[in-house]
Amino acid sequence: MTAPTSTLPEEQQIDRDSAFATDVLEGLARQPKQLSPKYFYDATGSELFEEITVQPEYYPTRTELGILDENGADIAAILPRGAALVEFGAGATTKIRRLLSQADFDAYAPVDISGDFLKAQAAALRQDFPRLKVHPVVADFTAPFDLPAAVRTMPRVGFFPGSTIGNFEPHEACGFLKSARRILGAGSLMLVGADLEKDERALYAAYNDAAGVTAGFNRNLLVRINRELGGNFDPSAFTHRAIYNRERHRIEMHLVSRKAQTVRILGQRFNFRAGESIHTENSYKYSLNRFTALAKGAGWQPRAAWTDAEGLFSVHALVASD
Ligand code: AVJ
Repeated sequence: MTAPTSTLPEEQQIDRDSAFATDVLEGLARQPKQLSPKYFYDATGSELFEEITVQPEYYPTRTELGILDENGADIAAILPRGAALVEFGAGATTKIRRLLSQADFDAYAPVDISGDFLKAQAAALRQDFPRLKVHPVVADFTAPFDLPAAVRTMPRVGFFPGSTIGNFEPHEACGFLKSARRILGAGSLMLVGADLEKDERALYAAYNDAAGVTAGFNRNLLVRINRELGGNFDPSAFTHRAIYNRERHRIEMHLVSRKAQTVRILGQRFNFRAGESIHTENSYKYSLNRFTALAKGAGWQPRAAWTDAEGLFSVHALVASD
């Protein structure tokens, strides 16, 4: 087998069969056009997201951290001792560090699709929590996976912070909670962060920060398509739009074409009308009741829920019912 020799060096790295390539071609062929928010997080996107979390308008991250800090003793009181903490998707270690220093965990099992990221994260945690057994699991946490044998013999506590659950359609969120219930097993506990419905202006501001970081985060998806799939998007020809869809309780992010234009990706042409949008993200907001109803439908009993004084964000403790 010989590799094509006429291509540019960058083009040799294009993987036409990757899930990213398939999903992008399929999503842009749809009407309306859509891309999955899971692809926001390349290296630049992950950095931009970290920057979003410290914008004054973006309340979720700092509010959830405040909830975990203020209720640390209450949370620790309902957790089994010597448990394994299983985190679905491993992000910045800030939140997990709060939990690890407040409660008595024997093991930590972060589950993430990116093995490199997991390795770096595990190394840093082993340094700071030398008695903690760290068992990284390279897996897509939205699909069934096996826990490491060592973790299966300990009490297990799931952790799904950040309102990442808000990226799922409600039926997908139910499916995820059912799958987590099966993976963790009867009697397990789960802590889930869910963003709350609130004044539309506060929601709007959080996804339209004045510094334009969220706009850059949204447009970076086009930059990533250009780099990884050899696309020729002009990101500046698309406007960031985030709106609150009240009927569906969700923030929607879009990239709106400023003009009629044609974009080529992997040899395919995609036409855009002026004003046509690519729907890039949903971020569902829950009331406390709608969230507990969702959890019950997925085999979890609500055990406790904490919010901040302003009622912006919620952290739910759920117990796997038999
Ligand atoms: C990581 C999905 C929780 O929905 O608030 C932030 C992603 N998008 N600003 C969210 C996001 C735009 C974030 N989640």
